[in-house]
Amino acid sequence: MKPKVLVTREVFDDVLDYLAKHFEVSSNQADQPLSAQELAAKLADKAGALTVLTDRIDAALLERCPQLKAVCNIAVGYNNIDLDACRAHGVMATNTPGVLDDATADFTWALILATARRLTEAEAWLRAGQWHGWKLKQFLGRDVFGATLGIVGMGRIGQSVAKRAHGFDMKILYYNRKPVSADIEQACRARYVSLDELLAQSDIVTLHTPYSDATHHLIGAKELAKMKPSALLIHAARGGVLDDLALIAALKEQRIAGAGLDVYEGEPKLNPEFLTFKNVVLAPHIASSTERTRHRMAMLAAENLVAALTAGRPPNLLNP
Ligand code: DGY
Repeated sequence: MKPKVLVTREVFDDVLDYLAKHFEVSSNQADQPLSAQELAAKLADKAGALTVLTDRIDAALLERCPQLKAVCNIAVGYNNIDLDACRAHGVMATNTPGVLDDATADFTWALILATARRLTEAEAWLRAGQWHGWKLKQFLGRDVFGATLGIVGMGRIGQSVAKRAHGFDMKILYYNRKPVSADIEQACRARYVSLDELLAQSDIVTLHTPYSDATHHLIGAKELAKMKPSALLIHAARGGVLDDLALIAALKEQRIAGAGLDVYEGEPKLNPEFLTFKNVVLAPHIASSTERTRHRMAMLAAENLVAALTAGRPPNLLNP
């Protein structure tokens, strides 16, 4: 008999076909988020799960799922999974590193350019029929070419963002828990500085750290106060790395010039005050969302699930 697995949200058909070769698959292709109760009920007799970042995998859930052996997240971030609880219950947890670096870095650049050049604000104005002619001072933006870019979190995505900055002839500063190797610094043409120095020097600050207790509100009121009034903040990492209320206060007091955001605390319920700022570009957590990348993420998670339940050693195991 094939092991039973649950796919908690909609995925691509060929990913389901691949899983069906190995497992008896139940899937939520209607794509309605499952409540904690529904998830526990559906997982009670399953050996594995293909999950997404909205599925909370914690001790309370695992206690109700005695057969569960593997939880494979379709995301590089895994703050929805309590790894200690997984360890305690003998459940393997995996993520999808690597396959989304380029798409996420590309989108970070979309946010940088759209924010600096006021693209969404100008488009909304044009669509509203307000364009009646060219003006010298129309939608004056900020230069990206030659500016200083500050990257907070120099993992794979931060590095991919840095490499794209070379075409804009930027000075690149970075802050990380510890400096990256000299080779990576050289390839990225980036200089390690303290967080304070990065905030004070950068024209554009972009966040790329995972979310954890250690990075909760890494950027809050104190840090925003250190940024230049002309600087922009870009955030496509994970809700909670930035203190959203502190950013709203800084924007209201015009202590920074604007922001480009893809992730939020408590998403999808973003703070409605964000909608009131013209100098903020808002996206609905889509940085990795290209057809190719989301497909690669889902397939990698499925491969992890197959490896976990057949060989016991998935390639992207988070809790060996
Ligand atoms: C990730 O992989 O963590 C992304 O945020 C998913 O969109």
